[in-house]
Amino acid sequence: MAKNPQFTCTACGAHFSKWSGRCDSCGQWNSIVEERPLSSGPTSKSLGARRGAPVKLSDLGTQEDPPPRAQSGLAELDRVLGGGLVPASAILVGGDPGIGKSTLLLQAIAAFARKGMKTIYVSGEEASAQVRMRATRLDLLDAPVQLAAETNLRDILTTLEAERPGLVVIDSIQTMWADNVESAPGSVSQVRAAAHELTSFAKRMGMSVILVGHVTKDGQIAGPRVVEHMVDTVLYFEGERGHQFRILRAVKNRFGPADEIGVFEMTGSGLAEVANPSALFLSERGAPSPGSAVFAGIEGTRPLLVEFQALVAPSSLSQPRRTVVGWDGGRLSMILAVLEARCGIPFAGLDVYLNVAGGMKISEPAADLAVAAALLSAREDTSLPPDTVIFGEISLSGALRAVSQGENRLKEAQKLGFTAAIVPSGGKPVNIAGLTLNRFGDLTGFVGDMFGAG
Ligand code: TYD
Ligand code: MG
Repeated sequence: MAKNPQFTCTACGAHFSKWSGRCDSCGQWNSIVEERPLSSGPTSKSLGARRGAPVKLSDLGTQEDPPPRAQSGLAELDRVLGGGLVPASAILVGGDPGIGKSTLLLQAIAAFARKGMKTIYVSGEEASAQVRMRATRLDLLDAPVQLAAETNLRDILTTLEAERPGLVVIDSIQTMWADNVESAPGSVSQVRAAAHELTSFAKRMGMSVILVGHVTKDGQIAGPRVVEHMVDTVLYFEGERGHQFRILRAVKNRFGPADEIGVFEMTGSGLAEVANPSALFLSERGAPSPGSAVFAGIEGTRPLLVEFQALVAPSSLSQPRRTVVGWDGGRLSMILAVLEARCGIPFAGLDVYLNVAGGMKISEPAADLAVAAALLSAREDTSLPPDTVIFGEISLSGALRAVSQGENRLKEAQKLGFTAAIVPSGGKPVNIAGLTLNRFGDLTGFVGDMFGAG
């Protein structure tokens, strides 16, 4: 008897009982496809009369050693993994095509191989010769990495079973093909089946597996979203194509903090680690100019200074432009509304552009005050005081809220030669030598002090 068909959104992985043109869960158009489930589960609701074996229970206080970790020696990568690679863990590395995933993973696997780990790199996208060409460019030819160009999952698993490597990289999961699943490579069923087989096989064998997944916007190829729940760690490799900076961000990690980032720079000979990202993100900052504000942020466990740049210009459009790169558009509208309602500074009839320098993406609400300062400075055409960092969350009432890790933010600013900081007045008072603190309780006070209005 034919089972009821099941439909899945390729963008967000939500399930539906019938097809529709638009996914109710994520709003994506044309992303819903029919799929055949992998296993159908028990046929009847009851498990029958057979008894199972008792499961061993342990209490919460049971001592367990932390998992041993293997370090690659690439400090930025090791930190994002939570301190190194945990044996038998499954990791997904997602990112736009061409962002540098294959480059990063070839460098990473070579680093692990040089430390004595047995490694296999399976490429489903490139021939071994192409991978070797890249390895030449990256100066990795001496690393004892085994290569295979293969897409047949059954053959790959047989090889892995015989070779028993400590780490295997699958580049990419969308090219893998399980012959027991009747749909095209790259479809949701194939991606899910291949990821499921690979991760459970890796756990059984005690090897770590890194899956590469392309993120596609049009939903033609199943996004890595559908495998996120199967793996222990999800890393996204991001960056603007035109910029040389690349950020490896942990969005899920069972073995370490999420939100941790590693910063790399794409060079002619591969990805170089950036040990001091704040200095790099601020390196192109010239003399103080209107519209520029330096935000003291925290990414994961590390403070990071970035520059917000704003431009405000008279608009010829009935609906003025609001363009944001690297920050949330909804949050920008909120700050504009608070500036208008609480401080009486209108932005109607003005185009607003906001950009985070260097291609960084910021999602902390702690950047609110820096954004407001950049916008006001652009609108009033006056620079903010030089060598000053800013942070603080703005509430709808116009009050400034204290943010976490204020001291770490200020220490980083001081280390980079900043001499003043604009911060919310709430929170723990901290004293950092050489850093003058300007504290404000609300946005009106800040605007009045800085721009003589409000
Ligand atoms: P790649 O790793 O192939 O991207 P992905 O696997 O995510 O699709 O990287 C592609 C880009 O990186 C390509 O445009 C060229 C650039 N690149 C460098 O700039 N320097 C290098 O040393 C290498 C290997 C690549
Ligand atoms: Mg690639």
